[in-house]
Amino acid sequence: MPEFKQAAGAPYSLTLRPGHEELLQLDWAQPLLRWDSPFLVERPAGLSRHLVRFVEIAELTYALKELPLMPARRDYEVLRLLEERGASAVRPVGLAIRPEGDPTAEGAAILVTRFADAAVPYRHVFASGDPRLVRSRLVDALAGLLVELHLYGCFWGDCSLSNVLYRQDGATLETILVDAETATIRPFLSDGGRNEDIGIMVENVGAEMADLAASEGRSLDEADFELGEEVAVSYRALWQEVSGQESIPDDQRYRIADRVRRLNELGFEVDEIELEPHPSREHVHLKVRVGDRNWHANRLRELTGLEASENQAKQLLADLQYWEMLLGPALPGDRALRAARWRMEVYGPWVIRLAERFRGRDPVQAYCDLLTHRYYLSVAAGHDVGTELAFEDWTARR
Ligand SMILES: Nc1ncnc2c1ncn2[C@@H]1O[C@H](COP(=O)(O)OP(=O)(O)OP(=O)(O)O)[C@@H](O)[C@H]1O
Ligand SMILES: [Mg+2]
Repeated sequence: MPEFKQAAGAPYSLTLRPGHEELLQLDWAQPLLRWDSPFLVERPAGLSRHLVRFVEIAELTYALKELPLMPARRDYEVLRLLEERGASAVRPVGLAIRPEGDPTAEGAAILVTRFADAAVPYRHVFASGDPRLVRSRLVDALAGLLVELHLYGCFWGDCSLSNVLYRQDGATLETILVDAETATIRPFLSDGGRNEDIGIMVENVGAEMADLAASEGRSLDEADFELGEEVAVSYRALWQEVSGQESIPDDQRYRIADRVRRLNELGFEVDEIELEPHPSREHVHLKVRVGDRNWHANRLRELTGLEASENQAKQLLADLQYWEMLLGPALPGDRALRAARWRMEVYGPWVIRLAERFRGRDPVQAYCDLLTHRYYLSVAAGHDVGTELAFEDWTARR
């Protein structure tokens, strides 16, 4: 279905992606600050130069950002390109433009994105509690997001703790780009471009850590200035993993499979492996070409025909494996047959049940949340509790 566009001549024009027509009833002609709509809701938000408000309508939540026309258009276009590539970014829904006024004024446009449910800005993790507990994972996840974007040719130009959202999903930590108004997508990002982007991130993160210290009444000496550098170090290691050439001794060829597995674990699809024997014949040079970061989503689709996000797919594949292990050697057939049975006998019935129980909620995500709950319950109990019991416990707590 094409995008919806409001007729010309109106005090505003509204471009909307299909499926979000309910947004038409909002008062787009009014400055966002003056909105007094019953659909407005409060959500956690990072620091921002522009006014950002949230609405919940027909059981979906949206973020609305009011800003000048040029950056609004750029934000929208870059988010659309990132969506096409399946990248970890918020999804663009529409763009409202007020053609009458000054296009460089704050009120010139409103960008609409789908609110990333259950996600909070990175800044909030470092502002509360003891971040050191999960620090290395947070650092690696942020570095992973930068590597992913750079592989897509995306120069961000403003990576900061307020422009990244994180979502804890069971054992997985998801990072999401939220602000693309300074970003550009190029066919290929040079080393210079990558370094510049990392430099901006280090500077932004440093400034935010200083700001956080000040807002918590601590002196600048106590500010955590290492964080940005730690992300940069993790980024360089990961980039090396993704793109670097490696020399592998002839009797350690298993390391080729290791490298591919490590990349897959991180979600990266390996498109090509290049092996070049050294004239000495004692080692080979290994180079991998990394494709998109949807390895688990692609495997799940191949095996079961199901569409899911990368993180959901990771959990669903683990559930398939869990089910295969539970039934053990008695389970006949090859992987494809077992996957088809899992879809029909396990996944399908649960998704129907969850859709009936939690109307309006994405049933695939609900199933993944149930799997997370099953995992935590099992860890606490010291044995597998099973999905049924986890479901009962989960619904009793809600
Ligand atoms: N789709 C979304 N889902 C969840 N949170 C969002 C979304 N869009 C915006 N936010 C929240 O609003 C905050 C501000 O949004 P954003 O960074 O786009 O504004 P900005 O004014 O362009 O920021 P900057 O000052 O970095 O230019 C974000 O830090 C985030 O917490
Ligand atoms: Mg921002």
